Amino acid sequence: MIERTLSIIKPDAVARGLIGEILKRCEAAGLKIVAAKLLHLSAEQAGAFYAVHKERPFFASLTEYMCSGPILVSVLEGEAAISKNREIMGATDPAKAAPGTIRRDWGKDVEKNAVHGSDAPQTAQWEIVFFFKPDEIHSR
Ligand code: CMP
Repeated sequence: MIERTLSIIKPDAVARGLIGEILKRCEAAGLKIVAAKLLHLSAEQAGAFYAVHKERPFFASLTEYMCSGPILVSVLEGEAAISKNREIMGATDPAKAAPGTIRRDWGKDVEKNAVHGSDAPQTAQWEIVFFFKPDEIHSR
């Protein structure tokens, strides 16, 4: 089934010049970039995006980190896009991620783990609407 998923290249990966390398992995996996923009989140936006984690001990640190510099948000489209993107990202903790995955290669730790990707169809829909208006998404 053709799906859409939300991808974020996180601040330290953007700062280290990894946008091209990471998007190349997405395209090589057959995921089409149908929307993309560079954003610098406010504390309010980061808190709203990660609201599901607001009771977790890492929430303050995570939201502060996500506001520390520009991020690249994109919508990826393709066959089983949600699971395919999670496969190429690797496990949340880069130390536990499989060899050849984005997080294994470029993640620094469980917080600065280079990328975010939606984890389920409902989350993907909510996350895409959070960042993009319908006319900013271009299926092809
Ligand atoms: P992400 O896929 O963006 O979703 C939630 C984020 O919380 C996760 O990636 C990590 O960057 C971050 N995080 C920080 N600490 C932890 C932790 N101990 N366990 C899980 N996620 C964490």
